[in-house]
Amino acid sequence: MITEEAIRTESLTRTFKVKSLEVKALDSVDILTRLGQVVALVGPNGSGKTTLIKILSTLLLPTSGRAYVMGRDVTRDVREVRASLGLVLASERLFYYRLTGLENLVFFATLYNISLGDAKKRARELLELVGLGKWAEVQYMKYSLGMQRRLALARALIHDPPVLLLDEPTLGLDPISARELRSLIKSLARDKSVLFSSHYMSEVEDLADYVYVIKYGRIIASGTPSELRESVGSVVELNVPLERVPRDMIRFVVFVRDGRARLRVPKRLAEGLDGSAEVIAEDRASLEDVYAYLIGEETMEIDHRSRGWGWRRGR
Ligand SMILES: Nc1ncnc2c1ncn2[C@@H]1O[C@H](COP(=O)(O)OP(=O)(O)O)[C@@H](O)[C@H]1O
Ligand SMILES: [Mg+2]
Repeated sequence: MITEEAIRTESLTRTFKVKSLEVKALDSVDILTRLGQVVALVGPNGSGKTTLIKILSTLLLPTSGRAYVMGRDVTRDVREVRASLGLVLASERLFYYRLTGLENLVFFATLYNISLGDAKKRARELLELVGLGKWAEVQYMKYSLGMQRRLALARALIHDPPVLLLDEPTLGLDPISARELRSLIKSLARDKSVLFSSHYMSEVEDLADYVYVIKYGRIIASGTPSELRESVGSVVELNVPLERVPRDMIRFVVFVRDGRARLRVPKRLAEGLDGSAEVIAEDRASLEDVYAYLIGEETMEIDHRSRGWGWRRGR
């Protein structure tokens, strides 16, 4: 079943000028999402995820190319685009600290030109929906981070938009709060299109129907989680003396102990290792293995002096 198109970008490009340097934050990005689908954006820091989300939400203009939300052009139909999406950015001071959760939502609801009565009703509904019903009358400053995120989601849903854009929604949350937020996102996604960015591959595996892998502003791979896993195939777990780990294999190091490194290496690359590698096990590639394989360079350098857990950043 093909459902309605929600987000489409065509050769979307955005450059930033920083002094004499030109940074291509997005480079000819083509993505497509549909209603009822959860789509993940995955890639290292600085790869362009937030830039993409900001362009889709009309906060930032593209340098070239096009982007559409529910068929509306993000540069020409700003009002319609805004009406059809809800946005939660990772780094945003969203709410008034001294107001309660309910008061905050009522305030933002009234910005949508609805009566105070309707705003109160809507705010109550949303607080129930995100599991904050009991916390309606509590000041925002007393909310835990998990509750703050849920309130941010409630705010993004005030006008019941078909599209949700979530930039690193579970960043900094403890595992249980993160899991609760994920199940909330899942339940919302049934009739919406959700586009979210994340660094947590297990989260992407759990939530996403489709994944775009982005690096240096370019989509370098895309597919369902299982398609991506199959593209890497098998991985072998190896135990290798630290000094014998080739530089281009550092990205596959899972941990280091007693001068030996444990690696998870795609099978097709493992042949490049010498006889000092002891094979521990073979496994199907996880999404995290896929990430290590595709992204690679953003690795850390093993600290040979400590010969232990201590890593330091490469370059
Ligand atoms: N306002 C800005 N001015 C200059 N450069 C920026 C600006 N916003 C983002 N960038 C640059 O664009 C690139 C992509 O950034 P961003 O979209 O924030 O990546 P991500 O969200 O994937 O970490 C980075 O190199 C970043 O430094
Ligand atoms: Mg970001």
